[in-house]
Amino acid sequence: SDLSSFIAALPKAELHLHIEGSFEPELMFAIAERNGIRLPYGSVEELRSAYAFNNLQEFLDIYYQGMNVLQKEEDYYDLTIAYLKRIKADNVRHTEIFWDPQGHLERGIPFSTQIDGILRALKEGEETLDISYRLIMSFLRHLSEESAFDTLAEAEPYLQEIYAIGLDSSETGHPPEKFARVFAACKDKGLKVTAHAGEEGPAEYVWQALDLIKVDRIDHGNRSLEDPELVKRLAADQQVLTVCPLSNLKLCVVSDLNEHPVPAMLNAGLKATINSDDPAYFGGYMNDNLNALQQAVNLDQRQLVTLTRNAIDGSWATEERKQVLR
Ligand code: ADE
Ligand code: ZN
Repeated sequence: SDLSSFIAALPKAELHLHIEGSFEPELMFAIAERNGIRLPYGSVEELRSAYAFNNLQEFLDIYYQGMNVLQKEEDYYDLTIAYLKRIKADNVRHTEIFWDPQGHLERGIPFSTQIDGILRALKEGEETLDISYRLIMSFLRHLSEESAFDTLAEAEPYLQEIYAIGLDSSETGHPPEKFARVFAACKDKGLKVTAHAGEEGPAEYVWQALDLIKVDRIDHGNRSLEDPELVKRLAADQQVLTVCPLSNLKLCVVSDLNEHPVPAMLNAGLKATINSDDPAYFGGYMNDNLNALQQAVNLDQRQLVTLTRNAIDGSWATEERKQVLR
């Protein structure tokens, strides 16, 4: 049945969104031009046609290339405010966004330039669009533990503004255990922690995220379903999973959306949530993800309410804000 109006009207929280992954080609070209950078694509259409991926790494190569045009504080502001205006149309009322400081530090962009622009937009969005937020600093797992510690040191003056720490980028070959010590240091500073796990990597990486990183939630978690003991553990802990249907489709984590694991997760009592991950690259924001999944696996209204409620309950919004959104 057509539940698109029902989906559109639900107040939503987004818990898995890379701000660099919300970089629409039109804005990318505009910022490239004003910064005097030539993109290796002749047009917006040509760039969009490059968005065809067989796996996570093929996407990441293009994603890191795209963020290279970000140089000034206002670039980070423009990127972030464009995302907030776009999700307002989807009735997203709270968002927890990742950013990858190492992807910019490597190019010589100061930490302060990045975070000042992002925070200026987030604060403006909270005031003018009534979208509450948390900012999550994410470590790139293909880089070293030492680089993650260096990045944490750069973040020190901003720890009041950074709510949590994440772990993303190339999963295979970069297990959570590689970052156990730096995440322990983050926890000691009172930060929440989360990690991408079980997207392409095995269930073992989800166990490591739980037991070695002691995550407060799991990003993706798809492959957890391969391990019944892990499913029991996730259900017992009521661990939140930030699942991303269109991302999974575009990165070939699932071969067809009608095989998506969300119904199985809900049936197993797991706290699944729906998110857009990198909407500019994967062809859809929150409502697009909910609509595509609803149609592919025939979710009913009760399941849609459960998914959006899981996100509000599992968010890091204040209790007061959660009350408003429920
Ligand atoms: N960085 C941006 N999107 C990502 C994803 N889906 N998985 C891992 N790293 C990412
Ligand atoms: Zn992600």
